[in-house]
Amino acid sequence: MHAPNGHVPRPRFHFTPQRNWMNDPNGLVYDRGLWHLYFQYNPEGADWGNMSWGHATSPDLRHWTEHEVALRYRDGEQVFSGSIVATGAAAGAADSGAGHDSADGGTLLTAFYTSAYDDDHQAQSRATSRDGGYTWQPDPQNPVLDRGTSAFRDPKVVRVTDAAGATRYVMLTVEADDRQVLFYASPDLRTWEHVSTFGPLGATGVVWECPDLVPLAVDGDPDDIRWVLLLSTNPVGDDPNPDGSSMHYIVGSFDGVSFTPDVAELTRLDHGRDFYAGVTFDSAPDGEAIMLAWMSNWRYAGAFPSSPWRGAMSLPRRMSLRTVAGVVRLVQQPVGFVGELLAGAEASTFVGASQPADFTLSGHSLVELAWDPASTGALRLLLRGDADALVELSHEPSSNVLIVTRGGAAMEAVHPNFPSTSTVVLPGSGDQPLRLLVSLDGHLLEVFANDGEATVSNLVLLGAGPILATLITELPGPISATVVDVTVPDVATR
Ligand code: FRU
Repeated sequence: MHAPNGHVPRPRFHFTPQRNWMNDPNGLVYDRGLWHLYFQYNPEGADWGNMSWGHATSPDLRHWTEHEVALRYRDGEQVFSGSIVATGAAAGAADSGAGHDSADGGTLLTAFYTSAYDDDHQAQSRATSRDGGYTWQPDPQNPVLDRGTSAFRDPKVVRVTDAAGATRYVMLTVEADDRQVLFYASPDLRTWEHVSTFGPLGATGVVWECPDLVPLAVDGDPDDIRWVLLLSTNPVGDDPNPDGSSMHYIVGSFDGVSFTPDVAELTRLDHGRDFYAGVTFDSAPDGEAIMLAWMSNWRYAGAFPSSPWRGAMSLPRRMSLRTVAGVVRLVQQPVGFVGELLAGAEASTFVGASQPADFTLSGHSLVELAWDPASTGALRLLLRGDADALVELSHEPSSNVLIVTRGGAAMEAVHPNFPSTSTVVLPGSGDQPLRLLVSLDGHLLEVFANDGEATVSNLVLLGAGPILATLITELPGPISATVVDVTVPDVATR
């Protein structure tokens, strides 16, 4: 089947809007059996502008239905990124409502977003929905939080429960140019008090965007909860580093007022070029931290040739903290449906070194590889598409480095920084058994090493045809490979 534009097939198990420009995920919330995804959206065209909140829902984080635009730009005011909290009777254990019980006993959804005014002024606004997130009433007092500054944005509201069981809400916002996260507290989602500021920290010459704060148990121990601050950073001005936009995290503690990091530095969250503005769902079942991110990079997002849509979300990822080689690391694993698809497929065993193993992928495929570098030596997986398009993954046991490259004429044509080499040193020693999950869905490549201890996410342009995969190892040790091709597009049209 040929994609309408001949080159970029639409992803089958990732969310893309039917048409037009999309960037950050916004207002992620789970409410009464549905996952709501709002997103930065231009209702009028394929380039950034007229920013509004598009809307889609899914019962399972896989099959998405797109709905009408939820919050629309108007003259002089764009609707930038933000978050939603669910309160009220139907929100159940997540929240008692803090005086917000909806008249019908259902859920009240409260959205916080940035009003980006044309006169270079950004402030936080509020809107509520009583019909499950389809229609919204802006607060007549908007903006509700205003410092009179020009880069004050991306409100993310999280809940914090004190020792006595009382909930208060904490809003994280950035002063993007100052590389600071400002924390505000509220008992009722109406009045906000500035309680602390975190940053600046780390690299200069970037803006901080889209903060989030997530409580996670270390190694599943409920008595060892740490708070993980998530941040997206984007270079400003002329930056010779080809990386562009990227996400980072820092593990620490949070007492409801201020965040205290356990370590001195931010850690890179994903080692590819295309994983940005990731935030987590409010009110996810079992308190899980499920993240979606925008798979692109401000360096070349506007030049990516997919059509009639431009912009895609990552696979939903469940986050946890795992101690690996003595360090507490953020681990990201794709949510349930990915494992279920793989569990339904049979593994084949290849024996390397004698000759390369070739197999064909549809290009909407999951590939799980398991091997022991002690018996295979170095491993390479090549993915070849149209013309000279090539993605290569390689692992080198002596350095325990995973390298993911993308190249070829079509990728070079996007932007000088599009062809790339992503290098990540995996934790631990390189001669331990290794697992790689490679998800390739049209133009979206996500690699999960060792059950999510490291990830590499990249846009790729391999063409619309089948992909020739080649597995090469240095020594004749066996490799187990499980391959699933997703044949049916999962995205419903409206
Ligand atoms: C991040 C970001 C946000 C802003 C939005 C505008 O990608 O720059 O800081 O709210 O995109 O679309």
